[in-house]
Amino acid sequence: MLYEGKAKKVFATEDPALVRVYYKDDATAFNGQKRGQIEGKGAINNQMSNLLFQYLTEHGVSTHFVEQLSERETIVRKVDILPLEVVVRNVVAGSFAKRLGVAEGTVLPRPLVEFYYKNDELGDPLLTDDQALVLGLASEADLAELRARALEVNRLLRERFAACGLELVDFKIEFGRLANGEIVLADEISPDTCRLWDKATHQKLDKDRFRQDLGGVEDAYQEVWRRIKGGLLRE
Ligand code: C5P
Repeated sequence: MLYEGKAKKVFATEDPALVRVYYKDDATAFNGQKRGQIEGKGAINNQMSNLLFQYLTEHGVSTHFVEQLSERETIVRKVDILPLEVVVRNVVAGSFAKRLGVAEGTVLPRPLVEFYYKNDELGDPLLTDDQALVLGLASEADLAELRARALEVNRLLRERFAACGLELVDFKIEFGRLANGEIVLADEISPDTCRLWDKATHQKLDKDRFRQDLGGVEDAYQEVWRRIKGGLLRE
């Protein structure tokens, strides 16, 4: 094992350019202060991420995905994860609502991209472009590329989720650098990392059910997976 994170374990393979990821059922929130298990989450997040990464690849977004091994295991290209979390918001929720005093559910006039410094000790603080540049976390060209790619991922995912009756409120993605310097989309796209609301009822179908003790957490993950799988397999 190379690394154990909050929701995944990463293992070396015989090929130094590839690693094996194992998705756990462990759930954390508020920077690890709240802990629990969401039964079946690992299998859902793995399969859902892989399906979405394949969909994004087919639409011109390069990702780390290589091959799904089992319900919970996937081979991905080895990358150095950039120390930036990229958040895209379409509708106000979460930290944006709290910090700026805007009501949850307010539709933003255009998608908003935010960068956060990936640092558990500091609680992943919001980062301005200038701060990222001065700290040497990314170059100006990197930031422009990440912003453009994040907006493209948002456009593609929104369309896909909408076809499944889901509203993509916001999400977090991470990028990694391959040995040849190329930046690719990495980590995962799942109900852990996206806010997804039922389009008709606005019911929350994501990790907010765990964060806010709303109950029905497992059912929400299963419902999202059922819809995404159906939607993508129909293509
Ligand atoms: O908490 P906040 O409103 O900033 O989260 C924005 C989006 O990023 C949400 O979809 C949340 O699930 C995701 N996120 C994440 N990992 C973090 C922080 C936020 O997946 N460490």
